[in-house]
Amino acid sequence: MTNDSIPDLTAFDDESLNQAFAALEQQAREAAAKINSEEDVEAFKLVWLGRKQGRLTEVSARWLKAAPAAAKKALGVRFNALKAAVEELLESAAGTGPSDAALKAEAIDITLPGTRRLLGAEHLITRTTNEIVSVFAALGYSVGVGPQVETDYYNFESMNFPPGHPARDTQDTLVIASQERRPLRDRLLLRTHTSPVQMRTMESQPPPVRIVIPGRVHRNEADDATHSSTFYQVEGLCVDTHITFSDLKGTLDHAMRALFGSSVKTRFFPSFFPFTEPSADVQISCIFCGGKGCRKCKQSGWIELLGCGMVDPAVFAFAAERQPAYDPKKISGFAFGMGVERIAMMKYGISEIGQFYSGDMRFLSQFV
Ligand code: DAH
Repeated sequence: MTNDSIPDLTAFDDESLNQAFAALEQQAREAAAKINSEEDVEAFKLVWLGRKQGRLTEVSARWLKAAPAAAKKALGVRFNALKAAVEELLESAAGTGPSDAALKAEAIDITLPGTRRLLGAEHLITRTTNEIVSVFAALGYSVGVGPQVETDYYNFESMNFPPGHPARDTQDTLVIASQERRPLRDRLLLRTHTSPVQMRTMESQPPPVRIVIPGRVHRNEADDATHSSTFYQVEGLCVDTHITFSDLKGTLDHAMRALFGSSVKTRFFPSFFPFTEPSADVQISCIFCGGKGCRKCKQSGWIELLGCGMVDPAVFAFAAERQPAYDPKKISGFAFGMGVERIAMMKYGISEIGQFYSGDMRFLSQFV
């Protein structure tokens, strides 16, 4: 198909013009019918609509310009109609509009059932945290929080773990890198317990204080069935005049019965924490066997659940640097700390701590 095939026009009457244009349109249709590929489309476009040597350009040059003035209008109208026809042929050959099949594939069948979205639910750790916090809220405790990235001062020093003290090794943690130039007390680490929030609370308000502090903590620890390097605690602190160990016992005895049922008994065993003196571990009668002895309680009838004690005067002395009212001669208090996962595992019969963090819906959906 070359431009040479365009004949010269010799007659300009309507009949001759109609014939000449019809012949050209026929050629264009035949050419368009043979289009099979992208390249064919491009070739058609070049041959018919090419700006410099396209057939329409040639028609315009040869026929329009050579026409006598009287025929120019009739020629122009037909030329425009031809051009429109050629452009339409190109468009449908190029498949610019989606095909019927494509349209059908995209159509939405409104009679199909919709996508069912799962309802969210409280995670067991959140639920258990809330249960613990509610027990203390009912006793008049307020609720606080503190940062997970903590300073050495709050996490250790003010909790009476002096620099180099061996008790620090019992709570090895992850420290933020490249802080050697900072004084030890300002260096940042991931808090190993929620106890530092005791100090933050006392610094921000004078006694009396009754507060529980839930939060996430971190330890450099190997994961196993009952230990995780990140877990949750609820801390408690009560400071006032004349607070005694009896108040501590009564409060935790009540809390354990509120959490595990009214038949649960508690007992207090001597222990050690740097920030309490005296310190105790609290055991509850085994909720699985009622105290008779079973595999879960290692035949002892008791399960160890949390740490507590009377706030060490050294801790009050740190608080008194900011709030003089924490004078250990005038006030006293108790503190306690419990692991949320441990309590949740007992309450809901879970044997692998990793289940809490797995995000496995088969596990989570059992507790919706
Ligand atoms: N902070 C301790 C720990 O993570 C738990 C604890 C024990 C908190 C005794 C206390 C407490 O407030 O009095 O092991």
